[in-house]
Amino acid sequence: MNKKNVLPVDFMWGGATAANQYEGAWNVGGKKASTADVMTGGSHTTPRRITKHIEEGTYYPSHEAVDFYHHYKEDIKLFAEMGFKCFRMSIAWSRIFPNVDDKVANEEGLKFYDDLFSELKKYNIEPIVTISHYEAPFALTEKYNGWTSREAIDHYVRYCNTLFTRYKDVVKYWITFNEINSLMVPAGAFIAGALLVDDSGIFNNITVDSSQMRFQALHHQLVASAKAVNIAHQINPDFKVGCMINYSLGYASTCNPKDIIKAQKQDQINNMICGDVHVRGEYPTFTKRYFEESNIKIEMAEGDEETLKNGCVDFYTFSYYKSHVVGTRPEGDVTQGNVFGGFKNPYLKANDWGWQIDPEGLRYVLNHVYDRYKIPMMVVENGLGAVDIVEKDGKINDDYRIKFLREHIEQMKEAVYDGVELIGYTPWGCIDIVSASTGEMKKRYGFIYVDKDNDGKGTLNRRKKKSFDWYQHVIATNGEEI
Ligand code: BG6
Repeated sequence: MNKKNVLPVDFMWGGATAANQYEGAWNVGGKKASTADVMTGGSHTTPRRITKHIEEGTYYPSHEAVDFYHHYKEDIKLFAEMGFKCFRMSIAWSRIFPNVDDKVANEEGLKFYDDLFSELKKYNIEPIVTISHYEAPFALTEKYNGWTSREAIDHYVRYCNTLFTRYKDVVKYWITFNEINSLMVPAGAFIAGALLVDDSGIFNNITVDSSQMRFQALHHQLVASAKAVNIAHQINPDFKVGCMINYSLGYASTCNPKDIIKAQKQDQINNMICGDVHVRGEYPTFTKRYFEESNIKIEMAEGDEETLKNGCVDFYTFSYYKSHVVGTRPEGDVTQGNVFGGFKNPYLKANDWGWQIDPEGLRYVLNHVYDRYKIPMMVVENGLGAVDIVEKDGKINDDYRIKFLREHIEQMKEAVYDGVELIGYTPWGCIDIVSASTGEMKKRYGFIYVDKDNDGKGTLNRRKKKSFDWYQHVIATNGEEI
């Protein structure tokens, strides 16, 4: 492959985070609890609990997280030193509308992001802002059971209006919802702020069949997203608004046509329903049969179809960590993943949390999606969750992370050479933050180490890892030397 100058000169190198995993200060500056703030710590083997209210004496990792709220200047300086062109972050909705239906937005919350954006500006780092990353004010859950109610749309739109107006001149790139297609699986119910209680009273039992509820909530989010795109373009025609899909790549386990169809169906349902609505402005034709066979009836309000049609996104972003296998069960066991799992692939190795590492799958997804939509794409999450050891000399030699990222960047370049319009790359958790699935700190992704453990203890001191210097060089050479 001709590796010279494959990536455009203005390629957006950066890193990605989310407010609830990074900011902390959960009840500071007028902020109130978000849906993420009622999730306890957990581990690879012990699931996180969702509590109905904040329990005294229980550990909630998001409450302090790694305190970006008070460390943002220091962290942004380090991002700038690495050469970041952009920074993907999210705004905590509950910092802006703590009670969700507040008449007036919380000025202190807005001011925090004013300051943060000016700090980014100082270093010419372009913010890429996720409007709702796996959280909403907990008040939305208490008052409306989250996104299951249509009222959520209006609250979200008002929140977007506030952000677009306030940050009109400082933010250009917006993402409406993080991994919106997570609502395809039962665990997605609480991501949409919906509490499930089964007949036995088990709280948020994700084995409760919630598909009707989840798809209705998803429809509300898709309509809300389309409305947001529309308003964004009215407020500033230069705004670029994107979607964000948790790309679930499932290979057919054999060349048995039945397995091929199964893998195709899974791709359609898990990835394409949301992608199509966001990019093409309508539900794809295969949805009709899927909804019929799954007993799902979406309640559409008058005008919804038109709203979707008029609210198509400008770019497509996605997260990519792993792949799995679909179809006849191959030798081996089930494999884990972020939201979507499947069967193990004998050709791949996994990280300590069972996520199978598949750099070539990234090239596959980029080609597959670009062929379908032909709009600019961004990989806004990718990375290796691993336990890092601080050596006696204070160094952190995360060669495994460098290897992971190098191999994925290599495949991104292949995809660009294939003809894909890829405009940016923001590896996940560019600084160590709380893990979304387990609530752990020891599952680290960062180029920057944060001294904090799973029980919430630590100095919060920041320290560069070996990958810090490596990524700095990658950016400096625009990906030519990796
Ligand atoms: C993505 C989410 O699914 O995966 C992030 O958008 C999350 O919020 C990331 O942190 C990695 O998952 P985890 O569970 O390792 O933190």
